[in-house]
Amino acid sequence: PQVCWLAPEQTAGKQKPYMYTQGQAVLNRSFFPCFDTPSVKCTYSATVQVPEGFTAVMSATSWEKQKDNTFVFKMSQPIPSYLIALAVGDIVSADVGPRSRVWAEPCLIEAAKKEYDGVIEEFLAVGEKLFGPYVWGRYDILFMPPSFPFGGMENPCLTFVTPCLLAGDRSLADVIIHEISHSWFGNLVTNATWGEFWLNEGFTMYAQRRISTEVYGLAYTCLEAATGRALLRQHMDNTGEDHPLNKLRVVIEPGLWGVNPDDTYNETPYEKGYCFVSYLAHLVGDQSKFDAFLQAYVNQFKFQSITADDALGFFLEYFPELKEKGVDSIPGFEFDRWLNTPGWPPYLPDLSPGEQLMKPAEELAELWAADSLNVEAIEAVDITAWRTYQLVYFLDKILQKSPLPKGNVERLSKMYPKISKAQNAELRLRWCQIVLKNNLEAEYSKVKDFLHSQGKQKYTLPLYRAMWGGSESARALAMETFSATAPQLHVNVQNYVKKILGLE
Ligand code: BES
Ligand code: ZN
Repeated sequence: PQVCWLAPEQTAGKQKPYMYTQGQAVLNRSFFPCFDTPSVKCTYSATVQVPEGFTAVMSATSWEKQKDNTFVFKMSQPIPSYLIALAVGDIVSADVGPRSRVWAEPCLIEAAKKEYDGVIEEFLAVGEKLFGPYVWGRYDILFMPPSFPFGGMENPCLTFVTPCLLAGDRSLADVIIHEISHSWFGNLVTNATWGEFWLNEGFTMYAQRRISTEVYGLAYTCLEAATGRALLRQHMDNTGEDHPLNKLRVVIEPGLWGVNPDDTYNETPYEKGYCFVSYLAHLVGDQSKFDAFLQAYVNQFKFQSITADDALGFFLEYFPELKEKGVDSIPGFEFDRWLNTPGWPPYLPDLSPGEQLMKPAEELAELWAADSLNVEAIEAVDITAWRTYQLVYFLDKILQKSPLPKGNVERLSKMYPKISKAQNAELRLRWCQIVLKNNLEAEYSKVKDFLHSQGKQKYTLPLYRAMWGGSESARALAMETFSATAPQLHVNVQNYVKKILGLE
């Protein structure tokens, strides 16, 4: 399942085949022999020979092209097996910064360069200022074929990303900032087991939002965090708060066939993990002191794999006055409860600095949910200058209130072509969810088109869940779309869709 072989039709250029690997969580054992656990780290080298007209890239600190289309790669820092990655295709590169270039198929390289030219270095520099040296040498970005199942994958030196990020306006750069943040949290300090995946993703979400705050300001970052919180809410509503996966420390025990850590993937390690790290910062009470702690944490555990006990033990050691106060056992907020009790986070960071951006979106959603529309009030709100995440926030509110009174969604669709005809993937996802929840059959083709155009897991599964939970015609749409697109989807995603559709 690890190595994905794509036919020319499955690429952006549709001329040449493509292959890539995705290691996380436990797929690399089918790529090369290894101790396929994040608790073991090693360096690696690889020699890859490809046919004429192809280029190979890997998550390596150095590479050189030798004769006969042979590429030699070396990763000189110890990394866990899941971070070893290879891609081969008709790919070219363009510089976007002093230590960064973008890689993409020739037909996408202009767009890729335009999207990120001159901005990557700022993200890296802010990361270094906050968390310490960037130890990986280069930071390059590879734009993957449309079926790549993730927004981004933090392969060291070379992040793999979905081509959906090519929005034309840098509006989805939070994904890049997220993957850059893994350079410290995840790739340097690594969770020792997949049961404590929140150590990778929760700390990374926190680091991402620290960088975002420095670059884009607090208001925008709180808005983005609020959309993250909405995802956690949706996830817990879907699964029930008490679901065993809704705790930070997940029990991954070998059953008859073992539990595949990929099957435990959900919003909890990300957004509940973010809340826990924010809670630790709240206990400290001073941002610069907590930033200094994060830097010390990275320095203490770099190139190691650790457990939550290691991380929290270090926190209490670093702040002995907090340890003395017994902050690990404040009733309702016990560290043990954070780790081992499922459910909604006991502490939520204050996102009110984002209110200036969220309030107008909330009020507009309120207007659209009314039984008889106050058209005058609606028309008085000018959304032309709204940022993508402000629209996303608005659409999440509309989705929460859906189904809307009859006719409202049709009117909304006509009034805001900027939303209903959007090319931006985050907007398309929300619009498709709204179409399905309101059973707007006239726009089913948009769901179909979106699912044909890309294969990201976080876009694909919610839409199939919505279709399968919807009307007869929505279910038919699901079946029809899946039979047409299944061969393009990553095997993991295929299997999850099959489960949703009761095909397995
Ligand atoms: N490491 C993850 C992707 C991943 C997780 C792959 C688990 C395989 C198994 C990556 O860093 C990630 O979290 N990507 C997010 C980005 C988002 C949170 C900004 C994604 O793909 O959506
Ligand atoms: Zn991540």
